[in-house]
Amino acid sequence: MSGLVVVVTGAAGGIGAGIVEVLRHQGHVVVGTDQESQESEVVGCDLRSTEQVDALVAGVITDHGRLDGLVNNAAVGPLGTVTETDDDTLDQIIDVNVKGAFRMARAALRHMVTRGEGSIVNIGSGAGHGKPNMAAYAASKAAVHALSASMAYDHFHHGIRVNTVIPGGGGIVSGISLGRFGGTADDYLALPHAGSVADRPVQPTDVGETVAFLLSPAAATISGTIIDVGCMANQGGPLPRPAGAGK
Ligand SMILES: NC(=O)c1ccc[n+]([C@@H]2O[C@H](COP(=O)([O-])OP(=O)(O)OC[C@H]3O[C@@H](n4cnc5c(N)ncnc54)[C@H](O)[C@@H]3O)[C@@H](O)[C@H]2O)c1
Repeated sequence: MSGLVVVVTGAAGGIGAGIVEVLRHQGHVVVGTDQESQESEVVGCDLRSTEQVDALVAGVITDHGRLDGLVNNAAVGPLGTVTETDDDTLDQIIDVNVKGAFRMARAALRHMVTRGEGSIVNIGSGAGHGKPNMAAYAASKAAVHALSASMAYDHFHHGIRVNTVIPGGGGIVSGISLGRFGGTADDYLALPHAGSVADRPVQPTDVGETVAFLLSPAAATISGTIIDVGCMANQGGPLPRPAGAGK
């Protein structure tokens, strides 16, 4: 596959870094962005600013001549029930997770619609189907799922594909998961996670492989779908292992 020009948000670590790693390994030109440029490889762009988002996308098109793919991966994930979540926290979650993805998609789509091609992958969550103690985050991810489906409909006849990837199963070592857990990566991995059918937690690069597939011509006929890179997030996750069963 020849190299695509792709923007990945939230690229400084966690799942975003895994997505960037896979895409670069496959020969794509990847512009990784994050809130602040933390190294030469990551371009600063605060998704809460329409000005910064529009400037980033315009810069990519100037530098590379086109934008083939966008991966809306950045998010924040404070925990809490509705009664525990104050306005500042609610606003932050919606501003980054929903409005940030919206702003990025809007800037990218203006270019992609003109070209009549492009692919957007939004990183959703099993929480988007409702999970305990994640009221605002879950609501934001449900909005991301709906935004994906709406964009898939709106830009179907422009030849633009929009899909959602859910990193599932727990046990993914990343900023959000470790921030919620409050311990080390080793302690987090020692917890009993549902993991995946591979009998191990999902890795950021597993998410990257699926994102790369959805961006590629191999997925030329696929739009408006959700792929769960864990297992069965849409059905509440896998069942606990029966006593004495399996590996
Ligand atoms: N980790 C999991 O188990 C898990 C499960 C389901 C879904 N997800 C989703 O996967 C994606 C990646 O999460 P992660 O776990 O790797 O988290 P992470 O915290 O490691 O990465 C998120 C990145 O987003 C960036 N970001 C935050 N606010 C920003 C802003 N205003 N502008 C630009 N960038 C900003 C952060 O700096 C960070 O680098 C998120 O969309 C998350 O909701 C993660």
